[in-house]
Amino acid sequence: MQIRATKTAILDWTGDILALGIFEEATELTGDLAHLNEKLAGTISDLIAEEEFKGKTGSTATTRIGNKNSVRKLILVGLGKAEDFKLNSYRTAAAAIARAAKKDKTLGMSLPVTKEEPAAIAQAITEGILLALHQDNRFKSDPEEKEPKLETIDLLGLDDRAQAIAKGEQIASGVILARELVNAPANELTPVTMAETAQEIASEYGLAIEILEKEDCEKFEQGMGAYLGVAQASDLPPKFIHLTYKPEGTPKRKVAIVGKSLTFDSGGLNLKVGGSGIETMKMDMGGGAATLGAAKAIAQLKPEVEVHFVCAATENMISGKAMHPGDILKASNGKTIEVNNTDAEGRLTLADALVFAEKLEVDAIVDLATLTGACIVALGNDMAGLWGTEDNLTTQLKTAAELAGEKFWQMPMEEKYFEGLKSKIADMKNTGPRAGGSITAALFLKQFIKDTPWIHLDVAGPVWSDKPNGINNAGATGFPVRTLVNWVLGD
Ligand code: BES
Ligand code: MG
Ligand code: ZN
Repeated sequence: MQIRATKTAILDWTGDILALGIFEEATELTGDLAHLNEKLAGTISDLIAEEEFKGKTGSTATTRIGNKNSVRKLILVGLGKAEDFKLNSYRTAAAAIARAAKKDKTLGMSLPVTKEEPAAIAQAITEGILLALHQDNRFKSDPEEKEPKLETIDLLGLDDRAQAIAKGEQIASGVILARELVNAPANELTPVTMAETAQEIASEYGLAIEILEKEDCEKFEQGMGAYLGVAQASDLPPKFIHLTYKPEGTPKRKVAIVGKSLTFDSGGLNLKVGGSGIETMKMDMGGGAATLGAAKAIAQLKPEVEVHFVCAATENMISGKAMHPGDILKASNGKTIEVNNTDAEGRLTLADALVFAEKLEVDAIVDLATLTGACIVALGNDMAGLWGTEDNLTTQLKTAAELAGEKFWQMPMEEKYFEGLKSKIADMKNTGPRAGGSITAALFLKQFIKDTPWIHLDVAGPVWSDKPNGINNAGATGFPVRTLVNWVLGD
């Protein structure tokens, strides 16, 4: 499928289906639309009247024009109020149009060009199209939903935007990789196959890669006892993945992205029981999946920034070798942890991953993790929690997220709550009281960062969507690859 920006006016476009975006309260046809309406003998105004089409967000009206015309079908797409139409609205509008047109071969899309940058518009539309059309049929022998038939999509009125379209395609390829990794079940996507995926990205795009095996992790600094404590019950070897993208020449800055990579979280001996969603815990590597997705996109986009991608992959299982509730682990920075709950395993794996990331002497670290159910309780499924230690970095992330159309809400790093993690026998416990559970999780992670500016993203809610939502189809969303990429690309 090819997405092209073209100067062609709507009057001159020929093909299967022409989609016209119309603002609310702007159904009076003017300019090119009025001319097209005349050419089609009033079809558009009739359609508006018959369908009582008002241009409300998400509303559509479709009509067949017939094979004799230069366009076979027409679809009107409501864009809502012009003043509310932001950059991300292009993504959702393009997604709705692409879905409506997916059984056709050629689509012409005309959306109004607002005060947003045309390049950003073309990029957002491209992302919306590709992400809405992506469907993961890998595990169905006979998918009910057939692959889209679309061959070409022309973006009318956005000529000369090939570069922006390519950028949208590269970012979408990273989001799709993240989705596919999360969708893949734990018998398919294991620490071993996750490391293989990282290896494939490295070979395809020329990134450096090191995979630390268990023995290497034991030797790192004081030993990655926290990560390896989680890994010890699994029959599969842990794989500590470190990919590096280096630009040509001196990098403007150096950053690390660290993703929680539990390919399955059974809870360990604090087993997840009835109603806890244990059957959904293949998604517990959502942070790592987005990290690899970002690596794939960034490797293609080639920014002047050095980026380290770190995934401490393992699964949280039960066996005779499993950690016992109450065990004391020592992380690689020497801090000791009383494991009062084996289901708070993500923070144990991240503890060592953060120590590792800080040793890389980067200017900033961002971690992302499906860390707590408490964050979902606080913010719902569409928003991630964000904790930061430095305002400048926090602002960077928020700006990147806004552009990406991904939602974050800043949460407090309330030091006083660390009281809840005090242990009588070790330096800290891994779990505090139920109240403020996502905040104590962030405070726990903070113990493993010395002084590098750091952001923690709790993405437990938005990495997965039960229903189609905007540009997402049901299943893994690929959140927050777009934010990570924008953050790295920003100055
Ligand atoms: N992976 C879970 C968090 C999670 C829950 C992600 C629901 C996605 C959806 C994490 O490892 C976990 O089990 N957290 C516990 C922490 C508790 C034991 C302090 C939780 O949230 O219940
Ligand atoms: Mg858990
Ligand atoms: Zn987990």
